[in-house]
Amino acid sequence: MNHISKVWIVDFGSQYTQLIARRIRELSVYSEIVLPTVSAKEIAANHVDALILSGGPSSVYENSAPTISPNILEMNLPILGICYGLQLISRHFGARVHSENHREYGRAEIHIDTPHPLFDGVSKTTSVWMSHGDHVDSIPEGFDVIAKSTFGAPAALIHRGGKLLGIQFHPEVAHTAEGTKILGNFLFKVAKLSANWTAGRFIEETTQSVREKVGSNRVLMALSGGVDSSVMGVLLYRAIGKQCVPVFINNGLLRLNEQTQVVRQLKEEMGLPIRTLNCSGQFLKALRGVVDPERKRKIIGKEFIRAFEKFAVDNSGLKYLAQGTLYPDVIESQSVAGPSQVIKSHHNVGGLPKKMNLKLIEPFNHLFKDEVRKIGREMGIPEPILNRHPFPGPGLGVRIVGEITSKRLDLLRRADAIFIEELRAAGYYDKVWQAFAVFLPVKSVGVMGDQRTYENVLALRSVNSFDAMTADWSRLPDSLLSLVANRIVNEIRGINRVVYDITSKPPGTIEWE
Ligand code: XMP
Repeated sequence: MNHISKVWIVDFGSQYTQLIARRIRELSVYSEIVLPTVSAKEIAANHVDALILSGGPSSVYENSAPTISPNILEMNLPILGICYGLQLISRHFGARVHSENHREYGRAEIHIDTPHPLFDGVSKTTSVWMSHGDHVDSIPEGFDVIAKSTFGAPAALIHRGGKLLGIQFHPEVAHTAEGTKILGNFLFKVAKLSANWTAGRFIEETTQSVREKVGSNRVLMALSGGVDSSVMGVLLYRAIGKQCVPVFINNGLLRLNEQTQVVRQLKEEMGLPIRTLNCSGQFLKALRGVVDPERKRKIIGKEFIRAFEKFAVDNSGLKYLAQGTLYPDVIESQSVAGPSQVIKSHHNVGGLPKKMNLKLIEPFNHLFKDEVRKIGREMGIPEPILNRHPFPGPGLGVRIVGEITSKRLDLLRRADAIFIEELRAAGYYDKVWQAFAVFLPVKSVGVMGDQRTYENVLALRSVNSFDAMTADWSRLPDSLLSLVANRIVNEIRGINRVVYDITSKPPGTIEWE
């Protein structure tokens, strides 16, 4: 196997670090995010071909400001510093970094003064996204300015040796018009890397590393029927055959007919010898009376692990638990390195108990959902499985605001099924990222057939998104929404009002809890 180009992104806590990783992988180059504590020795030992120093919220002069080992900057590796990364490089080479005037946030223009491979094919004046308080005030020894911002501050610096570069703007965000081109130029024209990271390659590498990791042990594969765990299950089963034990848990929080559907798809269509465990009693008992969303998530995470560990005891030789955890689950459940906030504990990450007897295998935890879909396609998994809308691990548990009861679950299941059925019939299912119903613990007055009703409100949510990190509400046709609302109110006794959620993410999240 020839060498796979590898980029390490040193994370100084920017909210955009994951986006840099994503953009680089979109350019078919393998990348990983590492902490600022990384050493030159580790970089050399891991055959890293290029480094990117991310932005970050700190000022290089703060006492607690993160930094990197100076040896790294002397390694003769291609290095691109972005914003804070640029300031670190500049300071290392003796420049002054200024932090009082000219704070710049948002859209700006830069002017490229000197032709350089970093800007090949980029317009001479191009619009970029700035997000910084500090800027470089004097040019470090041995560097040239190749682009300036409108008010004359250095926007791109290059070391005369050619491989050390710094830019003041963020090429990874969509608002930087030619950002992908600039990142690509760094990878292919400056660092001279190869675009050799593909879905096929990922499958090959993961197959190999999973085989090495598990040896002759057996792995419990937690299947939910969602895209991530289905693709993971197929990959794992193909990699280690009968050592992979796929298990589907009915936690009592599933949608209408979900178990039958998932088992049919994965067993009959994909040939996975899936086992089902009915644990609904155990989950619903543990959730009785609980209304706080984070508590619900933690309880559900704990019950999943209890169920898996019991299964492992009953079926000896199971040492690992494989899950289809994705990058956004990890990011929102815990900060990767920087100070980003925990938004909610995704049950298969932050919701897991600290002590577990099974060791985790999560080969997708650096991937985004569309990348998993690509991998699934490469493995020949049918489109209806790959195009299923995401469904959270805690299931309907986080789509019932307030206490979870059997009656509420039943109402929600039927309403959700109507929404999805009509969405499919109207040809909108595959056009939106995710659509679902949410049960609200609120009653409102209505009138049906001259009778007063006093029943619950149901919210419909449909969003468009690329990777669930941000989302906008779907502009579904009035006629479709009206049909869905009518059917729900007419067919489901217990719901007499339907509302449509028009909140984007941010400031909202996709799920209500
Ligand atoms: P939020 O609500 O955080 O959701 O905007 C982002 C995406 O993640 C899904 N989601 C989860 N997935 N376990 C999961 O596997 C979870 O605990 C979880 N919570 C939210 C959500 O459906 C959306 O697609």
